[in-house]
Amino acid sequence: MSNILREARRHEEIAEQLIPSQARPLFHLSSRVGWMNDPNGFSYYQGKYHLFHQYYPYESKWGPMHWAHAVSQDLLHWEYLPAALAPDTLPDKDGCFSGSAVELADGRQLLMYTGVSSAAKRPDGTSDDRQTQCLAVGDGVNYEKYPGNPVLTADDLPEGGSKVDFRDPKVWREADGTYRCVVGNRPADGSGQILYYSSPDGFQWTFESVLAENRNRFGLMWECPDFFQLDGNYVLLTSPQDMLPSGFEYHNGNGTLCLIGSFDQESKTFREEHDQAVDYGIDFYAPQTLLTPDGRRVMIAWMQNWDTLSIASLKAPWFGQMTVPRELSVKNGRLYQWPVRELDVLRSGHVSYENVDFEGELTLEGVKGRTVDVTITVRPGEEGQVYQKFAVWFGQDDTYHTGISFRPYESILKIDRKFSGSRRAIIHQRRCKVPQNGGRLTFRMILDRFSVEVFVNQGEQVLSATMYTDQSADGFKFLADGKVIMDVEKYDLDME
Ligand code: FRU
Repeated sequence: MSNILREARRHEEIAEQLIPSQARPLFHLSSRVGWMNDPNGFSYYQGKYHLFHQYYPYESKWGPMHWAHAVSQDLLHWEYLPAALAPDTLPDKDGCFSGSAVELADGRQLLMYTGVSSAAKRPDGTSDDRQTQCLAVGDGVNYEKYPGNPVLTADDLPEGGSKVDFRDPKVWREADGTYRCVVGNRPADGSGQILYYSSPDGFQWTFESVLAENRNRFGLMWECPDFFQLDGNYVLLTSPQDMLPSGFEYHNGNGTLCLIGSFDQESKTFREEHDQAVDYGIDFYAPQTLLTPDGRRVMIAWMQNWDTLSIASLKAPWFGQMTVPRELSVKNGRLYQWPVRELDVLRSGHVSYENVDFEGELTLEGVKGRTVDVTITVRPGEEGQVYQKFAVWFGQDDTYHTGISFRPYESILKIDRKFSGSRRAIIHQRRCKVPQNGGRLTFRMILDRFSVEVFVNQGEQVLSATMYTDQSADGFKFLADGKVIMDVEKYDLDME
């Protein structure tokens, strides 16, 4: 083991002791110490779920990238394992960037990641990164970098492909035992494309095709691709940088894109039929999926926005959390997401109200908490008389609240954490358009100390946001401008 990795492992063991468990999310994976970004190597291996992530253990800010590692039996109770990768070889001396994991035919686990190494400086002091794809092989705890690294270099790019932006391999095994991967890249037009490679054994890789092209439609560079079959469709997920907003579908900055279509086996290209945002909230990026042993496609993402890092304090000993793992499906040509069913096991303390008729403000006995699972259905209080606005405030006390509000006339659902305690002038609101349904709306909210995830209408749309409100603010308040009737179902979420 290199000294760099040994030092990271030593540091995390000592530093994590200073973080009480209450200072972390309950069931969302957070960084053991220091900084977390993208999920990496999300996989099922030897009877456990493995989740690695982009990691800088020494400070709560981005630095030379390592891979952290955690395992779980149920995707919710996570156990930290020692850091898996450190930037300690020539091709990855400046960082082990994002990548994925797959089981090899001989039972070992293969990690495929992007090695970053800066080229020699130019006379003006600038230099370009080189991004290549590298491998490490291990037993589920310890990994050895492959001596033949890098396995994909600038030589494996199509004409015009950037060797500076060439990253985030997502690898999988085909039914015939051969391997494929998709990698993000920037073509000559400066936007993004997804490259498709094949391998007989996981070690020797060949360029096959440009799977999909951005052509400057959805942001610029396409990061962190994932490609899989789901409910008779092919789904391509990617995280575009530098998005321009488009209606209420796509927002500015780093975004997430879901393309649904088919795969042409001849040309090895993707035929796009539908596009949508993956998440409509504030904090969601770089999702990655796995297939569970019982055949579910489960997605997890970094619950953070690159442009709002200052939501949390740099002095905090950990930074970054994952979303709740979500089961995916395609219905009516759209991507649906739902919290993994394992979450239901954490439920206790059921409180339910039906047909609550009100206007103005309301609180309900027993509906409160910061680790809760709450489903709300709202409908007009009078036949043919649609209310102006309905809102629920949570993480609420006299000073603070975060809100979800719905304006049925505009069909706009908004998340707003302006009053969540942040002292920074960053994005605190996001809006999305939901289907018109005569003022009827159902949504399920998952709260876990420092976040909220809102699953709208059976998971047709999801809004995720972090909120670092003091935990003592645990109220819920309902507000209606006009008469509404609502049902509320609440569970506490506990981990024993
Ligand atoms: C996405 C990303 C990836 C890269 C990693 C570096 O958030 O920029 O493209 O591999 O983060 O930490």
